[in-house]
Amino acid sequence: MRVAVYPGSFDPITNGHVDVLERSSKIFDRIIIAVVHNVTKKAMFTLEERVDMIRQSSAHIPNVEIDCFSGLLANYLIEKQACAIIRGLRTVTDFEYELHMAMMNKELLPDIDTIFITSNKNYIFISSSTVKEAAMVGGNVESLVPISVNEALKQKYQVSIS
Ligand code: PNS
Repeated sequence: MRVAVYPGSFDPITNGHVDVLERSSKIFDRIIIAVVHNVTKKAMFTLEERVDMIRQSSAHIPNVEIDCFSGLLANYLIEKQACAIIRGLRTVTDFEYELHMAMMNKELLPDIDTIFITSNKNYIFISSSTVKEAAMVGGNVESLVPISVNEALKQKYQVSIS
């Protein structure tokens, strides 16, 4: 069985992430979407909130499993007996960061490859950061994120305004 891990912050998951997930799920037998628990990086959504939004947004993909990890990704890949890392690639701006990360992971685990799924052209400009920034100042991001995320963003910002 070919297992791939799709790691990330997913703070929050966007339509771009879902697209990468849908496409990679056709290549691998099982995809584990692994949400990083990073104590040094402040996330807008808690780990539980992020997992919950991913669960709702990926319910239509049968071979996806949701999990969390902390520490070294390489250790997590060994634990899950994964053969590949999935990462989405939008533009050249992503490329340098992604290449460094892929090379570091290759150094740590020579048998594992990073597979880049290039972004659907409709989602090239979408990132979790820009979605949060736009939503924070009242922008309508409905077409950029799954329904559950749109609702969560609205709630988050209503709460933080009041
Ligand atoms: O969505 P992000 O924030 O770009 O995801 C980055 C992530 C979580 C994939 C990366 O930071 C990571 O793998 N963190 C775990 C720590 C690690 O293994 N670092 C060494 C590889 S560079």
